[in-house]
Amino acid sequence: MPHEPKTDSPLIIDPAASGSGTGESMFDALLMHFSGTQVTTDLDPRVVKALRAEFDRSEFFGDDMRRLWAMCERVVVQSGRVPGGSGKAINLLNLACGYCEEGAVLSAFWGRGGRRVRQFAMDLRHAEIDKARRRYAATERMFKAAGITKVGRRDEGLDVEFIADDATHLVGYGEIPEHYDVVFIRHQNLWHDRAIWQRIYEFSLARIADNGLLLITSYFDREHLLALELIKSLGGEILVSERNLSSRELSYPGKSIDRHVAAIARQ
Ligand SMILES: C[S@@+](CC[C@H](N)C(=O)[O-])C[C@H]1O[C@@H](n2cnc3c(N)ncnc32)[C@H](O)[C@@H]1O
Repeated sequence: MPHEPKTDSPLIIDPAASGSGTGESMFDALLMHFSGTQVTTDLDPRVVKALRAEFDRSEFFGDDMRRLWAMCERVVVQSGRVPGGSGKAINLLNLACGYCEEGAVLSAFWGRGGRRVRQFAMDLRHAEIDKARRRYAATERMFKAAGITKVGRRDEGLDVEFIADDATHLVGYGEIPEHYDVVFIRHQNLWHDRAIWQRIYEFSLARIADNGLLLITSYFDREHLLALELIKSLGGEILVSERNLSSRELSYPGKSIDRHVAAIARQ
């Protein structure tokens, strides 16, 4: 049996009452994200059909991304928070993002309803950040090749800013926001180096905007529990923690993709 993480008081909210979850599919949200439009019915249906077929074949949006999407929907609704409120823009910080498989998906997820998402994605490793940039650009090209070009966003800068540096050095970068509606850490890595990860958690908690969330996922049961304990000791409030039952098992025993997820607020 998987080990269920204990939380002080996981808050379960009626999804219908939470104001979250628009029912848009991941595909529709990506379409809106890459076209810059809120009304996909304005797009040529033949283009949309061809793109959907391409999307279904694409290695970028496989099952892990669909599960990640569903997991984010569940956990955000259960947290009872609506990061960014009814604002038109949302700041998203994706820390220790590696090659950032989820870059486009997260922007599309948080951009539902036509919100502008400014995502800053950081990792220590330059090679991973290069790969992340190329991956995001290739996704953009896929939409462009189908005739989807972004409208009305020319003066708003990049959708995702990929930065190769220590997660806690973000402050050194000029036009970067002080606080984030969402701080996202996929497959946190406490076991790799506790002191470094303590620093990353402290930094993350300090950067959460009012009513914002820190979302973390973990590969392992115990690593997740230890991360939650540490985050609590640093002033984080665990709103939700879930063993993701649809997570994909990896060959290493007890390890699976997004095995656990938690939504955390600053106390
Ligand atoms: C387990 S990997 C997860 C990568 C990615 N989020 C994923 O889900 O595939 C942990 C990542 O933390 C990054 N990392 C470790 N220390 C870091 C630091 N101080 N600042 C930024 N990234 C760091 C590593 O380079 C690595 O990519």
